Amino acid sequence: MVVSSLQAVAAPAPVAVPAARTVTILGSTGSVGCNTVELVARSPELYQVEALVARKNVDLLARQAKELRAKAAVVADEAHYGALKDALAGTGIEVAAGAQAVVDAATRPADWVMAAIVGAAGMEPTLAAARRGAIVAFANKEVLVCAGALMMAEVKRHGATLLPVDSEHSAIFQVFESDRVEGVSRLILTASGGPFRKKTREEMARATVKEAVAHPTWDMGAKISVDSATMMNKGLEVIEAHHLFGMPENKIDVLVHPQSVVHSLVEYVDGSVLAQLGTPDMRTPIAVALGWPHRIATPGERLDLVTAGSLEFHAPDPEKFPALRLAREAMRAGGCAACVMNAANEVAVAAFLDGRIGFLDIERIVEHAMTTVPHSRLNSLDDVREVDTVARRIATEAIKAR
Ligand SMILES: NC(=O)c1ccc[n+]([C@@H]2O[C@H](COP(=O)([O-])OP(=O)(O)OC[C@H]3O[C@@H](n4cnc5c(N)ncnc54)[C@H](OP(=O)(O)O)[C@@H]3O)[C@@H](O)[C@H]2O)c1
Repeated sequence: MVVSSLQAVAAPAPVAVPAARTVTILGSTGSVGCNTVELVARSPELYQVEALVARKNVDLLARQAKELRAKAAVVADEAHYGALKDALAGTGIEVAAGAQAVVDAATRPADWVMAAIVGAAGMEPTLAAARRGAIVAFANKEVLVCAGALMMAEVKRHGATLLPVDSEHSAIFQVFESDRVEGVSRLILTASGGPFRKKTREEMARATVKEAVAHPTWDMGAKISVDSATMMNKGLEVIEAHHLFGMPENKIDVLVHPQSVVHSLVEYVDGSVLAQLGTPDMRTPIAVALGWPHRIATPGERLDLVTAGSLEFHAPDPEKFPALRLAREAMRAGGCAACVMNAANEVAVAAFLDGRIGFLDIERIVEHAMTTVPHSRLNSLDDVREVDTVARRIATEAIKAR
């Protein structure tokens, strides 16, 4: 079931209490993963944990697995298998490692799967969850950017349910009349503007990693924080919104809103604009997906509009933040363009975080890959993997040549 267009119609009738469900968390040790673990741990009577998955953070993964009494804990990086096995010895928790083990974890029979791995690495496990018709709480936006049409087709084919977790898409989901899409004239994604909103290009050229990951309103993982600083994150989100809600590129706008209180808006043909508001706290959109179709309580600050003070809105500056332009060009080009952009961006952001390139080199590497990789159609997941590999190679070569 594709949530954006069909979900509201097919949603079961609400009952007084949320249903108990089995859950798997892909990327449990990350920022979204830890927030999810916190919410799940608050209601042990409701959630039974099938599997937890990380890349290599064995200490945290083992602690989470014990706390949540998970059936299985999996690390993608096989080098950490021994450490995980030792950490969970005598607990009865199954342990596995490697890329296939991650896919197997997503295949285990959990009703609800949080897809919170970072990057295109999340594609296979997210697909595995979708292919068995699970409810997929979807944070891992890169998967839709590199393989959106194929992913949405699989979701539909297997009757899976995709619930947006990105705060902007969760906001739209909550005010989107999915059974009357013809009444929607535009989606408006809000953006904080990131840490460099008021910086000049010269200052951005000298930006350090510490400055780039210091997001003004959200506390997130390193990759998405850098994406927010370049505003590539908003570009990825425009593409994500296109796939989730079936809206064309020219009906998805971006509005800079530094306070991150209005999480996004939907404009209808009659002039009504519906928005969802809240404090910038990822536990809210995660709870929307975890409790769906019910509402569940979250800890954390409530929104107080009096203390929030004035809310500002500005048009984005595409000259200062070319990533937004690149994402729109990728959407208009279609085919492999968004996949190339995403892969090159992942490689460039990793190089920036390692101190191998400067901040503004990220956009140059991405544009270089987009103009170098030949245009092609993505007819299968093999095509996606091939284009992703080529784009990563071209981006890596460009980084070495700098
Ligand atoms: N953070 C936010 O507030 C936020 C908001 C909206 C959307 N998102 C999206 O949600 C996703 C996760 O973001 P994040 O900020 O939570 O990232 P993060 O803090 O970097 O966490 C990433 C998680 O994925 C795991 N991981 C990385 N590579 C993996 C692999 N190959 N196989 C299995 N697990 C792997 C990591 O394990 P280790 O810890 O062991 O490395 C970690 O658990 C991203 O797509 C992001 O764009 C995040």
